Amino acid sequence: MKFFIDTADVAEIRELAATGLVDGVTTNPSLIAKSGRKILDVIAEICDIVPGPISAEVGATDFDTMLAEGRKLAALRPNVAVKVPLTFPGLKTCKVLADEGVRVNVTLCFSANQAILAAKAGAAFVSPFVGRLDDIGQDGMELIGDIVSIFDNYPAFTTEVLAASIRHPMHVTEAARLGAHVATVPPSVLRQMVQHPLTDKGLATFLADWQKTGQAIL
Ligand code: E4P
Repeated sequence: MKFFIDTADVAEIRELAATGLVDGVTTNPSLIAKSGRKILDVIAEICDIVPGPISAEVGATDFDTMLAEGRKLAALRPNVAVKVPLTFPGLKTCKVLADEGVRVNVTLCFSANQAILAAKAGAAFVSPFVGRLDDIGQDGMELIGDIVSIFDNYPAFTTEVLAASIRHPMHVTEAARLGAHVATVPPSVLRQMVQHPLTDKGLATFLADWQKTGQAIL
């Protein structure tokens, strides 16, 4: 499973990328707004930190403008993945960009049928939003499972299932169990994933016992 981090905070990206655990980054207009920076500047900077796919979302909703914006974003760096919304103009934009060799992440996916359309449009990634479905009382993970099993029926679909709107570590475990190709996680969730009280307790004991030996490895 690949891990993308879901943030436009360059300091966070730099710190987490240094762990070697980050395969890509996703941003969206809300995250760009939170960063307080210009999208072209921040996306270029992120692309230079993480070599994997960096999702940058268009700001328009009509085909012509989305296509022009997508081409501009894609021209920034080879590792940009253009993010478009799951609408007919978005899918049309996806098809044209994919035919031009640009990776596209079709976002705001909330149903299996929407995911099938994204795959048919040549998307590199489709992003089902797990947490936002949970928020309205639907099972976001059920959607991940449905999409993974549908895509498995059609080997010609090369679209990767990118579990998005991840809110806590259990979402990551479940997405991995179901076979999602990628999970995009907020930095806080990635940090939570490493934690376990028995790890801390065990380490404290080992350190205390190691001190008693009076040895040094270096
Ligand atoms: C990822 O591509 C999405 O933009 C993101 O995961 C949305 O998460 P949210 O529902 O927590 O805003």
